[in-house]
Amino acid sequence: MATVADTGLQFTNRPLTSPISADERAAVLANPGFGTKFSEHMVTIEWTEERGWHDAVIGPRGPIALDPACAVLHYAQEIFEGLKAYRHPDGSVALFRPYANAERFNRSARRLAMPELPENVFVESVRRLVEADRDWLPSVEGGSLYLRPFMFASEVFLGVRPAKEYKYIVIASPAGNYFKSGAPAVSIWVSQEYTRAAPGGTGAAKCGGNYAASLVPQAEAIREGHDQVVFLDAVENKWVEELGGMNLYFVFDDGTLLTPPLSGTILAGITRDSLLTLARDEGLTVREERYSLDQWREDAKSGRLVECFACGTAAVVTPVGKVAGHDGEFTIGSGGPGQLTQELKDRLVAIQRGEAPDPHGWVMKL
Ligand code: COI
Repeated sequence: MATVADTGLQFTNRPLTSPISADERAAVLANPGFGTKFSEHMVTIEWTEERGWHDAVIGPRGPIALDPACAVLHYAQEIFEGLKAYRHPDGSVALFRPYANAERFNRSARRLAMPELPENVFVESVRRLVEADRDWLPSVEGGSLYLRPFMFASEVFLGVRPAKEYKYIVIASPAGNYFKSGAPAVSIWVSQEYTRAAPGGTGAAKCGGNYAASLVPQAEAIREGHDQVVFLDAVENKWVEELGGMNLYFVFDDGTLLTPPLSGTILAGITRDSLLTLARDEGLTVREERYSLDQWREDAKSGRLVECFACGTAAVVTPVGKVAGHDGEFTIGSGGPGQLTQELKDRLVAIQRGEAPDPHGWVMKL
């Protein structure tokens, strides 16, 4: 049993008791969708105040028993990450920027008063799961193995204070497109009644509570006939923030780009950051600046704004064609995918999939 360097933590392997048949797996991989199908293994690691991180296990994926007084069920002390493993043309499997996820996981942990997980343990846990489930990578176009590391307060206690026990788990889900294919660009609804995050709040943390709070405005967007909701800032209700599960980019007719700054109320997307670097590599100017809804509408109408896209690990790069709210709607460019959006997406995906050189050392082959 090898220990994770510098941590003393050892992983125990528990064998599968009833492996899924190759036919059943092939059926899943032929049509993975997003978030409904799962691989066969999972990683669990425990933390207690007395022992720190211990009992790292990789074993069969299955239900976990929770006491009804488990702290997470009451006060939502929970954080998570999302990253993907890709099959490369030479048959190898690779992760994309897993240390960036590990770092962000610990930033979220600090904000939610949870223990940090050593970055090498985070990456090792993900690596081991992908090794165990490497037959679960879909070969469909755009397919990947989506990895979901998460941590929650598992102490049985109803007082309001940081818990003294936590569980860290990693599961894997074969994934195709996040959005049901068909529409070349998504349509988004501006939430004016609800905001996602206020200054000083948890907007920059990847915690379940942020996503729970986005569900009513997201349902409103669907009711109004749109795909996604976009949030404005909580102070002036004026500045464009993010979609809740994706960051936004704007492309102007002079070839420059703009994305809202990491003000503390939006999530520091790893896809957002990668695109910022790739665009600058191409010699493009990218401003990280506030952008108001009024300016967005005016620029779309005048033609100064030519493209807009959302980005995230799950959604990759998704063109935004139309924006609607209580004051009416406007179309961006042709309403379909823009050229620069497509070029940046192709460039990113080619690196992730091992089809292009990796100048920034983002790809970690297993
Ligand atoms: C991701 O992109 O990994 C996320 O966590 C966002 C969620 C909408 C699936």
